[in-house]
Amino acid sequence: MSGTPVPRPRVAVSRAGLPGAAMRWLASRYDVTSWEGTTPPTTAELGALARGCEGLLVLGSDRVDAALLDAAGPGLRVVALASMGYDGVDVDAAAARDVVVTHTPGVLADTTADVAMALILMARRRLGASMGALRRGEWGDFRMDAFLGLDVQGATLGLIGYGQIAKALARRAAGFGMRIRHHHPRRKEDDELSRWVTFEELLRTSDVVSVHTPLTSETAGMIGAPELALMKPTATLVNTGRGGIVDEQALLTALRGGKLHSAGLDVMVDEPRTDPADPLFAEPHLVVLPHVGSATEATRAAMVELAARNIEAVLEGKTAPTPLPG
Ligand code: DGY
Repeated sequence: MSGTPVPRPRVAVSRAGLPGAAMRWLASRYDVTSWEGTTPPTTAELGALARGCEGLLVLGSDRVDAALLDAAGPGLRVVALASMGYDGVDVDAAAARDVVVTHTPGVLADTTADVAMALILMARRRLGASMGALRRGEWGDFRMDAFLGLDVQGATLGLIGYGQIAKALARRAAGFGMRIRHHHPRRKEDDELSRWVTFEELLRTSDVVSVHTPLTSETAGMIGAPELALMKPTATLVNTGRGGIVDEQALLTALRGGKLHSAGLDVMVDEPRTDPADPLFAEPHLVVLPHVGSATEATRAAMVELAARNIEAVLEGKTAPTPLPG
């Protein structure tokens, strides 16, 4: 006897063609609709896509606010980010609507720490600037004083935040012979790799300061002109977290004035930055990357898979594997 087929739960996805096999798996279980536009959806477009859905899978760059949640409707049960950062989500609005929000810790720490280490090496050893000179035909005869950078071995790395990515960077930095210290506002503990210090001591004493804290109302602009002024003029600032944590204008001023040796940024405010004349791109002591911290095939596939598993768990009435920290 064949009954009326039970409609499958609906899931909206903010991009088509996400890496890995998880989207096929999701589509085998749910009625999946993906955004097919050639540019990312606006929040209103995402709301329209999510209307009537129980699950929504988004990227870290998507904005999920109260209007979007209302547009999706009262049936929405889970917003699964395929990203570790969740600064684009209004978590209070989600909680007020009983919508579970999940993210993807655990699967991207090593990959992102690789890029942080690469930025440290590129900035301190002036590798970006020397590659630029090579490309402009400015190599010239071998000179003992050309393309000189600063050593990484023996230098002190100061980690702002001490979560999974910072710890993965600490392990790498130890292998490069760096001394490590960290600042976390609440967890004031040392471990075998790193010593806890105050924020001010970290800024004053580190040769490399690397940012690994989420973007929140407390951390927005936490590295501005006063903090840069505390850093050594021989120091390097690296940011693989979120652009809004560092005041870009203050950073440019410090670099141009010789108050800071160098910087490496994988993240900027107002991404994407597409103007080739962007002052950040022209600064010779600054290495900039287009937010590629987690950009390997395996890691991006793992992020999408974890987001899909989070959707499944919530829609099956189970505890999500990786909800946002409470
Ligand atoms: C993250 O996971 O937060 C990365 O920045 C990509 O969004």
